[in-house]
Amino acid sequence: MSKLANIDWGNLGFNYMQTDFRYVSTWKDGKWDEGELVTDNKLSISVASTALHYGQQCFEGLKAYRTKNGDIQLFRPYENAKRINLGAQRLLMPEIPEEKFVDAVLQVVRANEAYVPPYGTGATLYIRPLLIGVGDNIGVGPAPEYLFSVFCIPVGPYFKGGMTPVNFTVSDFDRAAPYGTGAAKVGGNYAASLYSYHLAKKNGFGDCIYLDPLTHTKIEEVGSANFFGITLDDEFVTPKSPSILPSITKYSLLYLAKENLGLKVAERDALIDNLKEFKEAGACGTAAVITPIGGIQYKGKLHVFHSETEVGPNTTKLYNTLCGIQFGDLEAPAGWVIKV
Ligand SMILES: Cc1ncc(COP(=O)(O)O)c(C=O)c1O
Repeated sequence: MSKLANIDWGNLGFNYMQTDFRYVSTWKDGKWDEGELVTDNKLSISVASTALHYGQQCFEGLKAYRTKNGDIQLFRPYENAKRINLGAQRLLMPEIPEEKFVDAVLQVVRANEAYVPPYGTGATLYIRPLLIGVGDNIGVGPAPEYLFSVFCIPVGPYFKGGMTPVNFTVSDFDRAAPYGTGAAKVGGNYAASLYSYHLAKKNGFGDCIYLDPLTHTKIEEVGSANFFGITLDDEFVTPKSPSILPSITKYSLLYLAKENLGLKVAERDALIDNLKEFKEAGACGTAAVITPIGGIQYKGKLHVFHSETEVGPNTTKLYNTLCGIQFGDLEAPAGWVIKV
């Protein structure tokens, strides 16, 4: 193991810090260049870039984990490669070959090994790939060139307190349209969420819940994480809709809930008017990991699930199983873990 950076690993939040290297590759004249590691964290691009005006950009988020014996591993990076290409297709950008994507991530993690937090601190290395339209352009149309960059930062828990229940409030606004770009990880969805997030925080909640944009009756997202609930008869339920971001964590939990915990599982509607069907609920995602939902505020009433202070038994088991696999303490299903 190489020398670690001088960082207070136990007190990391989810904040940007500059690390030593980032990867950058350019698409021009119909093809990607080799790509290289650079030390600069600034981009120099045309003021007329489509990413700046028309939101022609998408991104990803994944993590590298330090195992007990000091090794480093990635969790399902090929799923992130597939998802960034869905965003690229949706916004008319060139796809990134999956091997190029994973190779870029591996190069960045290896070059920044000193920033991969030690095992046991709960901290991880968050990796942020992004694909943006650049070059001279002013009409609404795709960019002449594209940049694919990958950088990384060491992070602690996304929600302060880690595995403790958080309360959420239902937003009156939508983050995406019914058949818009909700299923793609594009910046526009997040720009549309900032105001709702601000209101939720101002009112003392961790973030907000988005309902389906067509009928406003079904839960879609929990801030920048997917929703799951455990029904009174032990079914793991998570919503399905064309405007939800297909969370890699969520699909991993669907598998683990069934195979490891022996729960029934279903991707189906979770009605905001029928929260009492769930004895436990949570938010899941790369950054959120599993954040237990204490309660949901809707139409002036707070509906509490298991407890506002204690974590439910199924949520705890799911968390231990998922983190056990990610940190290399439990055996992973075939192909889920890539050694760095
Ligand atoms: C809107 C939204 N939903 C869900 C997720 C969780 O997805 P994943 O588990 O792939 O990180 C994220 C984070 O990436 C997100 O931004």
